[in-house]
Amino acid sequence: MNKENSLKNISIIGLGYVGLPLALLADKKGYSVIGIDIDTKKVELVNKKISPFEDKDVARQLKSSKIEASIDFSRIKDSLIVIICVPTPVDTNHMPNLELVENASRKVGEHLKKGQLVILESTVNPGVSERIVRPILEKTSGLKCGQDFYLAHCPERINPGDAKWNVSNINRVVGALSDTGLKLAVDFYKSIIDGDVKPMKSIREAEAVKMVENSFRDINIAFVNELAIFFSKLGIDVVNVIEGAATKPFSFMPHFPGCGVGGHCIPVDPYYLIEYAKKHGFNHDFLALARRINSQMPEYAVEQVRVGLNEKKQSINGAKVAVLGLAYKPDIDDYRESPSFGIIKSLKSFGAKVVSYDPFVPSKSSVKTLSEALKKADAVVIATAHTEFKKISPKKYKDNGVKVIVDGRNCLDKEKFQKAGLVYKGIGR
Ligand SMILES: NC(=O)c1ccc[n+]([C@@H]2O[C@H](COP(=O)([O-])OP(=O)(O)OC[C@H]3O[C@@H](n4cnc5c(N)ncnc54)[C@H](O)[C@@H]3O)[C@@H](O)[C@H]2O)c1
Repeated sequence: MNKENSLKNISIIGLGYVGLPLALLADKKGYSVIGIDIDTKKVELVNKKISPFEDKDVARQLKSSKIEASIDFSRIKDSLIVIICVPTPVDTNHMPNLELVENASRKVGEHLKKGQLVILESTVNPGVSERIVRPILEKTSGLKCGQDFYLAHCPERINPGDAKWNVSNINRVVGALSDTGLKLAVDFYKSIIDGDVKPMKSIREAEAVKMVENSFRDINIAFVNELAIFFSKLGIDVVNVIEGAATKPFSFMPHFPGCGVGGHCIPVDPYYLIEYAKKHGFNHDFLALARRINSQMPEYAVEQVRVGLNEKKQSINGAKVAVLGLAYKPDIDDYRESPSFGIIKSLKSFGAKVVSYDPFVPSKSSVKTLSEALKKADAVVIATAHTEFKKISPKKYKDNGVKVIVDGRNCLDKEKFQKAGLVYKGIGR
């Protein structure tokens, strides 16, 4: 590898919600970026400058970018830095699946050259970089980590759809297996982001940071979900209570209840720590409980449908229920681990006739339009707070014969809907 030529060359492995925005940022900052993915369709789209997923910023930036995409891992040969951004899912039993990280590491190792820095951005539990990625890279390349090549971990914190925080301004933490690797990685992130870059004492600390961040969120959401269930029995609106508590200027951070936690991070990452702890003979009880509470929220939302219909002297069995929203959060098309699917399954198990609609996820929607979804529906579940759904008036629901609204995201004006004569059920309000 010619170091002079390669200093501004980087390769990004995995062009998804994490890899593509990072590639675009590096491109904007003057790096020559090659994006590598095993998905040929995605590679074709990126080369045609079409975003493979719904994201206005990515779509806009791609148009003027010089990024090249490929399925050929040998293209990493001219890069000083190779960044791995592949998924880290769990299987149906919630067991971490590191196969994609292993596969990507193997392919990178086959083409690794002396002097290169490999950065793992995928979310992993402590120990994965050192115990899994490093040996694969060493074995397939025949090179020695810390001597011939370097390995670092910089967990990604991107929050798709966030108007304020994006890949260019979120602070980063970096850990590495050698001082040279750490310096190279810190210098790289400092050259592309406006936020701070904090070097960690070890690569395991950097891995642990991401586990802590997402577990923190899962636990706090579980806490307010539990409050929501109890406070609703007392007739106390938990959202008002949380907003009241949030007036305290210190030691309180508001989290809000909902019909379930979705996405590739919060309902997934804690399992990496839970399972890793088990291997060390430790039970992460707090995390496991949070997972259990949050996983039950789709059932709780369905219970609100049942109770609401009951108030109108109607059975859930045979009722038409429209589930609005399949994406796991507003105005994006990512439906991975979305609670909507649990809600649909549970509604069907009670004999409800379910239709689903999401303008961002047409491939998974059972009907093509909102009108079709609402027509003669007895109850509606707002499972995603898409802007379009927040604008639907009580009148529109009533005109379609809807009697019950279950606001799974607490995103509607409760009083307005109640005044209109609809049964309104929120999550804890
Ligand atoms: N999505 C988020 O909001 C987010 C935020 C922070 C961190 N993360 C973490 O970042 C990682 C990537 O997540 P994502 O949301 O970008 O996933 P994604 O599914 O959107 O994209 C991953 C890409 O990697 C490709 N890929 C899979 N195996 C590959 C291989 N062996 N070689 C090359 N490419 C391969 C896939 O085809 C896909 O295009 C995960 O570990 C995730 O936990 C995600």
